[in-house]
Amino acid sequence: MSYKTLLFTNEDGIATLTFNRPEKLNALNAETMAEVAAVLDQTAQNPEIRVLLMTGQGRAFIAGADINVFLKFDPLAARQFADAGQVVASKLEQLPIPVVACVNGFALGGGCEMAMACDIIYASEEARFGQPEINLGIIPGFGGTQRLARLVGKGLAKELCLTGRIIDAAEARTIGLAARVFPAASFMEECLKVARGLAAKGRLSLRAVKQTIDRGFDLDLKNACALEADAFALCFASPDAKEGAAAFLEKRQPRFL
Ligand code: COA
Repeated sequence: MSYKTLLFTNEDGIATLTFNRPEKLNALNAETMAEVAAVLDQTAQNPEIRVLLMTGQGRAFIAGADINVFLKFDPLAARQFADAGQVVASKLEQLPIPVVACVNGFALGGGCEMAMACDIIYASEEARFGQPEINLGIIPGFGGTQRLARLVGKGLAKELCLTGRIIDAAEARTIGLAARVFPAASFMEECLKVARGLAAKGRLSLRAVKQTIDRGFDLDLKNACALEADAFALCFASPDAKEGAAAFLEKRQPRFL
């Protein structure tokens, strides 16, 4: 299927969604949001996809929501726009496979929010992150205040959202927003290397890690650890658990389902 604002490829279990409005730094409008939602629904239904990478064409990952739409917004339209963005963020979190944000350039506003809804953020040396909505007289609407606080802590989240300060890849790594930083020249190759490794792991155990961390995060420790023990037990419903142990003992690579 072809899209107007996105590119989508799927090879060897690794799907790549590329935001593709480089002349507008991939700013998110309603059309992009609808296309992303459709891609994520299809990805969720496709058992051949084991990992999803998200990146941007040109010098931006996503430079935020398309500011043109704000001129016409009343509170109802603004709420619908925020809901649409939050639905996409939630779909990313609900996907049963790892989603990696490969942040090649600007990830501002809604771009930073989309990256934070992914499971892993990798940053090119050229990546820039920020929640600059305050400079437009508004606040983040796609979950930015909440996910940023959970990722980097309340104090830093407030500092970034109150000042609108844009940070580079090294600072994003230091504060725990980006997991790793790769050189710009080999950025997508480095991301693909990780993706190939993820695609070779067990589907059920990948899903269990993602869900256990996400679902456990807002629980108290006792209930969160109980959730983990249940997920650990469930891993043994898949032959992968036996295959992993057997492969280790037989000194060979595992062949997971
Ligand atoms: N919405 C709509 N258009 C945007 C956009 C956005 N969020 N971000 C960039 N663009 C457009 C610019 O208007 C420009 O279009 P034009 O060539 O038709 O004038 C084009 O993308 C290139 O952007 P430009 O500002 O010329 O590039 P730059 O290198 O000088 O600056 C940024 C890059 C990212 C610093 C700057 O574009 C910016 O601050 N963007 C807005 C970021 C933001 O506030 N995001 C949160 C929105 S809630």
